[in-house]
Amino acid sequence: MKFSNVVSLMAFASLSAAAPMHIHHAHKRDVVYLTNTVIVDQNGNTVDGQATSTSAAEQKAAATTIVENVSTTSSESSAKQTSTSEEASSSASSTQSSTKATSTSTSSSSSSSSSSSSSSSSSSGSFQDGTIACSELPSMDHVVSIDWLDYGGWASVMNENGDTSSECKDGYYCSYACESGYSKTQWPEDQPSDGRSVGGLYCKNGYLYRSNTDEDSLCVEGKGTASLKSELSKNVAFCMTDYPGSENMVIPTNLEAGSTADLFVADSDSYYTWLGGKTSAQYYVNNAGVSVEDGCIWGESGSGVGNWAPLVVGAGYSGGISYISLIPNPNNSDAPNYSVSIEAADGADVDGDCSYIDGKFSGEDGCTVSVKSGSAVIKFYN
Ligand SMILES: *[C@@H]1O[C@H](CO)[C@@H](O)[C@H](O)[C@H]1NC(C)=O
Ligand SMILES: *[C@@H]1O[C@H](CO)[C@@H](O)[C@H](O)[C@H]1NC(C)=O
Ligand SMILES: *[C@@H]1O[C@H](CO)[C@@H](O)[C@H](O)[C@H]1NC(C)=O
Repeated sequence: MKFSNVVSLMAFASLSAAAPMHIHHAHKRDVVYLTNTVIVDQNGNTVDGQATSTSAAEQKAAATTIVENVSTTSSESSAKQTSTSEEASSSASSTQSSTKATSTSTSSSSSSSSSSSSSSSSSSGSFQDGTIACSELPSMDHVVSIDWLDYGGWASVMNENGDTSSECKDGYYCSYACESGYSKTQWPEDQPSDGRSVGGLYCKNGYLYRSNTDEDSLCVEGKGTASLKSELSKNVAFCMTDYPGSENMVIPTNLEAGSTADLFVADSDSYYTWLGGKTSAQYYVNNAGVSVEDGCIWGESGSGVGNWAPLVVGAGYSGGISYISLIPNPNNSDAPNYSVSIEAADGADVDGDCSYIDGKFSGEDGCTVSVKSGSAVIKFYN
């Protein structure tokens, strides 16, 4: 795995990465962004703020509140197993720091446990501990296989020390992808103290066990407050970061030409917390025409795919409001070959204007809408 610079679940701007061969980097995931209008330093002080619209002040207030809690990790961490770990790590760090400028950072408040179980108890899960061999990716509860990574369908395989493996084996957490609109429920409450994250099912004596026994379904549905809609003639590969876990952007949603897709909007109030701070789902969005196999990976520098994709999307919910953001990728300022606007679905109450048209965001450093009821539609068009 490689380093990804952005994070995952929940963060509007988070970045992080996976840990490769024993190479650990300090992580500073201090950046989060809930909106483009607020930048908060680690002490919680606003260091920059640019109101971009009349409603921005209101958004900012709301965002600031959330930022205290909903953070995103933007920084990174880890490394990658193959050749480019050094390069990846350095790029990840720089990405992060540049991301910081546009995001709000937060010092995650507290010392509370680093993870919280996802709430939904509505799942009628069927996972039985100790019954499925670690060599087999479970096929239930909306789990999907990621075949292009060569980890046996898993999204990543990592242990508490940050060591990675190409196969799910004893002592490792085996992270998995869920279908669009869902995300995994499994990660251990006790997380590495250095800021890395681990997630997935735990492999012990050759069999898989839940690392979060509060959930018996492997995937949980998101808030359902945002969806994707394409008016393009080619697909768009939407790649969520594997978080907690490698933090690589390998969890696929293929928005097919002219179609729609669900987006997992993390319930930041109950989902994974990072060092006490809430997190959001984060997606790297590739150019139209790039397949999920080619785009949902840790890309090479300058490749324009994966962590080098031209757009990042953040999606989280807290306190009754969903925040959906279009975020610049500091490592790719080229315009994507489409335009994007966030619109309100019929009957929805959505505050804020947010678009990325002809290479220009509607806000200074990306933009965010607040969904108070109903859902937002992220529309892709020419
Ligand atoms: C979230 O922020 C609010 C407002 O600052 C605070 O009252 C609340 O305790 C925070 N929650 C957590 C979990 O930190
Ligand atoms: C958009 O860019 C991708 C990657 O460069 C390319 O493969 C694709 O053909 C382009 N699509 C359009 C519609 O221009
Ligand atoms: C990624 O972006 C940062 C910030 O713009 C830059 O310093 C760094 O060189 C980039 N990484 C690569 C590999 O180009």
